[in-house]
Amino acid sequence: MRILLIASAFNSLTQRVHAELRARGHVVGVELALGDDVVRDGVARFEPELIVAPMLTRAIPEDIWSEHTVLIVHPGPKGDRGPSSLDWAIHEGAQRWGVTVLQAVAEMDAGPIWASVPFTVEPCGKSELYRNEVAAAAVEAVLLAVERFAGGQFEPEPLDYEKPDVQGQLRPYHTQEYRRIDWRADDTATVLRKLRSADSQPGVLDEIDGREYFLHGAHVEDELRGEPGELIARRTGAVCRATTDGAVWLTQLRARRRPGGPATYKLPAVTVLGELAEALPEVPVKPFAASGRDTWSELRYREEGEVGYLEFSYPSGAMSTEQCRRLLTAYRAAAERPTSVLVLGPVRDFFSNGIHLNVIEAAEDQAAESWENINAMDDLVEAILTTTNKLTVSTLTGNAAAGGLMLAIAADEVWCRDAAVLNPHYRLMGLYGSEYWTYTLPRRVGADQAERLTTEALPVGAVEGLALGLVDRVRGGTAAEFQGWVRRAAAELAASPDLADKLLEKKRWRDADEDVKPLAQYRAEELARMRRNFYEPDEPYHRLRREFVHKVCPTATPEHIRGEGRLVGAEK
Ligand code: COA
Repeated sequence: MRILLIASAFNSLTQRVHAELRARGHVVGVELALGDDVVRDGVARFEPELIVAPMLTRAIPEDIWSEHTVLIVHPGPKGDRGPSSLDWAIHEGAQRWGVTVLQAVAEMDAGPIWASVPFTVEPCGKSELYRNEVAAAAVEAVLLAVERFAGGQFEPEPLDYEKPDVQGQLRPYHTQEYRRIDWRADDTATVLRKLRSADSQPGVLDEIDGREYFLHGAHVEDELRGEPGELIARRTGAVCRATTDGAVWLTQLRARRRPGGPATYKLPAVTVLGELAEALPEVPVKPFAASGRDTWSELRYREEGEVGYLEFSYPSGAMSTEQCRRLLTAYRAAAERPTSVLVLGPVRDFFSNGIHLNVIEAAEDQAAESWENINAMDDLVEAILTTTNKLTVSTLTGNAAAGGLMLAIAADEVWCRDAAVLNPHYRLMGLYGSEYWTYTLPRRVGADQAERLTTEALPVGAVEGLALGLVDRVRGGTAAEFQGWVRRAAAELAASPDLADKLLEKKRWRDADEDVKPLAQYRAEELARMRRNFYEPDEPYHRLRREFVHKVCPTATPEHIRGEGRLVGAEK
């Protein structure tokens, strides 16, 4: 079927739906909902049999939904309506929630229902929930709805609040009024709910030392205590704030824009607060110690028998120079441990999205910071590539992009959850890329596919990634189920009788590859291109990064995601 996705942004869910529908043989195009006429032109050009809107913040014009079946993905259970469904669900502590696919009609979210899939609300931020549980339910519901539409027999169910399974309701926009934290009265659970329901957008508006900030990232703290509302500690860029019965960590802040002042964007909390945060005690936690604790730590390390697990977790999946260096130190320590398998990756959400574009944007010398950051990434990747005393495994429970994906494929094996969306390219940020991708990517997928993936710049689903050789193993299930499988598979790998042979083979391979072309040469060649991207005045990187960080809305749908119009496709 020809399916056109109309979306407010080509975000992770839209990318996932794109990959899943393509994998089922559909011809998929995308049109960004940048205005009614843009949508009309996109529909006329693509001539879809079905329109799906995985993420839409505006109404579809009547002439479109009256001529075509338009299926809207709504992140709420049957009967739920309004623009802030997930915010309300998290704010009110819902345990179960749902995603409903409904047909576009004149009234928003009130059309007949094509499919509805429930999910369990995990205790995490709204965006993380969206990328994980919501995305899983949404994909299931979309595929079901598409199948039902294709069958031609299915009668969508009119919205009827009399039905016992229609439990939702129409809710207003979730304004800052509902989000406000009363630090002298709210307990930790309430503070966490408010922060999580606002994360990553728009954040909770609050005041610190007489200035207004949007608070982001929320993690419980199990030991530190202080006066409610008081900032009591800092750790790797985050600050800890006391509540009435405990404390929470805030990883990122965004200063509220002053009238006429420069635009603001999210940055590590310590960077935003400057001297105020510098005066706080740095309370480090070692990766080994963090493992048994309920506190914020970007790094955790633990061992189970012969397997070491180095978990890292970065807000937005972005890795600054300092974060790369800290991970490298932890990696080197883990590599020296008497284990035979080292598993790398977060237990939920993003694996990595590469260098930290916001931190670079905030730097005084952005080209120099870009250079530092990419070199710190390269040092980390080099350490993984040159580890020969154990097998390394990257586990992609969530998405990975650009240098973050190239970091993953530096490991000997890449195990991927079927829900992960992979973006093996840098082009959209105006970068050639480094992280030794010119060595690792063609080695995995072949030179032609490497060329296609990096220039086409389309997202790749996990199953497609497996077929290409980009990843080695794919498993389904929730993040927790995937982690359970990883533990069993890693233990099996460590116990396998041919482990010693595999290690020997790996060393032989690495030596042979080094003879053909040293790693240092790959790095030098990539960095020569990156240096030009960073320092030449006519390069688009600084503009593209600025637009990305400031979330500048595109003015047109990028050609590479539009898909072929009926006529163009037919000519081929
Ligand atoms: N640096 C800083 N922030 C980043 C980032 C990076 N490298 N990659 C993603 N983010 C942020 C996004 O701005 C977004 O912030 P928000 O939650 O405040 O909106 C958040 O992480 C989630 O990303 P989002 O774009 O919403 O996720 P997505 O899953 O819809 O899209 C990508 C994923 C990978 C397509 C998109 O994030 C992207 O293009 N990232 C940049 C990759 C890159 O070029 N890295 C640098 C070269 S190595």
